Amino acid sequence: MSVTRSAVTGVGAYLPEQVVTNADLSLIVDTSDEWIVERTGIRKRHRARDDQPTSDLAVEAAKRALAAAGRTADDVDLIIVATTTPDLTFPATAAIVQRKLGAPVCAAFDVQAVCTGFVYAISVADGFVARGLAKCALVIGAEEMTRLMDWTDRSTCVLFGDGAGAVVLEPVEGAGTPADRGILGFSLRSDGNKTELLYVDGGPSTTGQVGHLRMAGNQVFRHAVVNIAEAVTSAAAAAGIQVSDVDWFVPHQANQRIIKGVGDRLGLDENKVISTVAEHANTSAASIPLALDAAIQDGRIKPGDLILLEAMGGGLTWGACAIRL
Ligand code: UT7
Repeated sequence: MSVTRSAVTGVGAYLPEQVVTNADLSLIVDTSDEWIVERTGIRKRHRARDDQPTSDLAVEAAKRALAAAGRTADDVDLIIVATTTPDLTFPATAAIVQRKLGAPVCAAFDVQAVCTGFVYAISVADGFVARGLAKCALVIGAEEMTRLMDWTDRSTCVLFGDGAGAVVLEPVEGAGTPADRGILGFSLRSDGNKTELLYVDGGPSTTGQVGHLRMAGNQVFRHAVVNIAEAVTSAAAAAGIQVSDVDWFVPHQANQRIIKGVGDRLGLDENKVISTVAEHANTSAASIPLALDAAIQDGRIKPGDLILLEAMGGGLTWGACAIRL
């Protein structure tokens, strides 16, 4: 049986120039490089300039992904931006990206699932591409999490950073088996009863302010390790594969201990797990495409490899996606 799949034909990423080290943060809150590295694995993060909105990071990542795919902005017929730090309350950051890229009139909108945003966005794009409604979709995760920090709260401000990553999705014909190239299966979850564990305490219809990120870190940590593993197993089942078949596991980069905990629970070989949390910290919806790009650039992930993405974040939301590159 022939089926249309959504194949990742290009990946790109962008990090703003300014680097903030753990030592830099120890000058503004009561923390240390030792504590941050031991509890999270994070060594540094990037921070956008004041005059550099989320859309600027997204555009740079998108240009690189289009170049990798051998496409131009003229080819784009769908733009989805996963972000929790939009330039403006509206329009969608995707529409601003469309203008800055010079892409033609097409569908463009944002997806808001916080750190799980990229997994949600790529699953939404799959619906368009696999149904023949888009032939060159840009899916971008772009975040400036440093804008949401309370710089007096050491339990959160050391954890996050800014950045963007993007993929181009195009239709390919497959045989309907897990040997096909493209998105093979995914699982998406949300439990709105756990909102208070991770949220921003502001918004247009409540405080009228942007607000600051608040997190019950150790409760989120426990939820992550248990529930991400379930979502990964479920995405693998939807794809018709075993978790052990996967060449590379590309997790959301929140905490090295979470990455290890999930990997151990799934019985993964740690050499198959991509980790960039030390260099990027938690960039929310941007973290997976940033990690994917890093591992493609250094030659670890190659065409034909079977990869599994996973993430968890505010909502609480979580999910996973299996893709053959
Ligand atoms: O992407 C969205 C999902 N988010 C996450 O996945 C984050 C999940 N949570 C975590 O990564 C971890 O829970 C944290 C890294 C946030 C915290 O690690 P923890 O091992 O759970 O530490 P804790 O919150 O239990 O705090 C332990 C101690 C506390 O001191 P006391 O009460 O034991 O005296 C904190 O006040 O560490 C203290 N602490 C710090 N000390 C130095 C908290 N933050 C810091 C800090 N520097 N930056």
